[in-house]
Amino acid sequence: MDMNVENSIKQNQLIQNYYQFQSIIYDVTRWSFLFGRKLIIDKIAEVCTPKTILEIGCGTGYNLKNLSKKFPESKIIGMDVSRDMLSIAEKKANKYSNIELIESPYGDSTILNNIQPDVILFSYMLTMVNPEFSFMISQAYKDLKPGGYVAVVDFYNSKHEWFRNHMGNHHVRMEGHLTPVLESKFETVQNEIHRAYFNTWQYFTFLGKK
Ligand SMILES: C[S@@+](CC[C@H](N)C(=O)[O-])C[C@H]1O[C@@H](n2cnc3c(N)ncnc32)[C@H](O)[C@@H]1O
Repeated sequence: MDMNVENSIKQNQLIQNYYQFQSIIYDVTRWSFLFGRKLIIDKIAEVCTPKTILEIGCGTGYNLKNLSKKFPESKIIGMDVSRDMLSIAEKKANKYSNIELIESPYGDSTILNNIQPDVILFSYMLTMVNPEFSFMISQAYKDLKPGGYVAVVDFYNSKHEWFRNHMGNHHVRMEGHLTPVLESKFETVQNEIHRAYFNTWQYFTFLGKK
């Protein structure tokens, strides 16, 4: 088997195992540290009213719900590799007629069935896919409509080694490694770094145009 394919399968299995338990406590815990998720939706609204938005790694559907409220006329698609996370997202999605869910690892454009999104959102997802983040950013570039936007909110960095190690135990890499890759692929529309808990760590928002 191709080494990259083998690594991706291992990585997806790791994530699926991790979220078997984490999906249960996700919504009651993540509000306290996944900052900037509403902000990135506001930033999208500042530049466009998308016909179609795809969130890769939509998890329990927190953003899908907020996207649906912000863009009631848009088609909102959430894709995730974890059945456990999607089963929680489904309960939210059932209340909104414009949300669709796809259970799949991101990477194969044929799953999108010729849909070219105007916006692709990655929210606290890219720091978890190592080393595939670079491939995912390139894939998003390919899948987006010409002139479309990639929107990202994620952990940026921390000056505290203990904190970076702690996040590493939760499969999160925090080394400011995403923005250079995003900037090399997309025309930067906005790129901001924000502080969390008195600068214990930073998170960032990035909006890039194809
Ligand atoms: C930290 S959660 C973020 C969920 C949601 N975006 C949010 O902001 O609350 C990361 C999500 O990415 C999903 N994920 C990880 N690797 C993936 C892949 N290769 N393809 C699709 N989803 C993936 C995980 O299953 C998980 O639901």
